[in-house]
Amino acid sequence: MRKLLVVDCCIRKEESRTKKILERFLSAAPSDCEVERLVLTEENLAPLVGDFFEQRQRLLETGDFSHPRFRYAKQFANADLVVIAAPFWDLAFPALLKLYIEQVSLDGITFGANETGLVGLCRGTDLVFLTARGGFYTDDPMEMGSRYLDALHTFFGFDRYHCVAADGMDVAGFDGKASLEEACKKAEALAASL
Ligand SMILES: Cc1cc2nc3c(=O)[nH]c(=O)nc-3n(C[C@H](O)[C@H](O)[C@H](O)COP(=O)(O)O)c2cc1C
Repeated sequence: MRKLLVVDCCIRKEESRTKKILERFLSAAPSDCEVERLVLTEENLAPLVGDFFEQRQRLLETGDFSHPRFRYAKQFANADLVVIAAPFWDLAFPALLKLYIEQVSLDGITFGANETGLVGLCRGTDLVFLTARGGFYTDDPMEMGSRYLDALHTFFGFDRYHCVAADGMDVAGFDGKASLEEACKKAEALAASL
């Protein structure tokens, strides 16, 4: 079985359009995938400040990765497929997802360095990002969420990156329902292809 890690950052839970895309993606996930779901609103994620930051630096210096605080990075590094679902906020995504990324970005677990530079250490083949946006931002250079995660897929060593977005969710007079349904269908097709 392949491990499919779902990083659910759908802040509005059942109201979330992003979550609807995620559920349609999962409904079409290949049968050889075992789904592990991490709901970020239910995790007690903290920023890297003060003692929490100092402890991390100490553990990294000694190379001791046995501490439970490294569980997110290990889980991420060991997944065959990773799906991140987060709404479009402030031209990117919610800070909650950035807190998670801080926990996951760990020298020696998800990335490392050799004589040629940085190398990704994740075993995953595909990193998928699902999102719903109030306005229209596909291919817009102002969009920073998908472009950032695209860069991270290379940094962490994934082979491929995919983004499925529903644009125009909050635009008056625009058929947001049709845009959402189109994104759901794309997500299903993508899931079935992995
Ligand atoms: C805090 C916050 C920030 C947002 N920032 C943007 C933005 O920068 N650009 C935009 O087009 N829409 C923005 N939106 C609108 C959301 O992208 C839109 O409502 C989206 O559908 C939310 O996804 P959800 O239904 O999964 O929660 C923002 C919404 C919130 C609550």
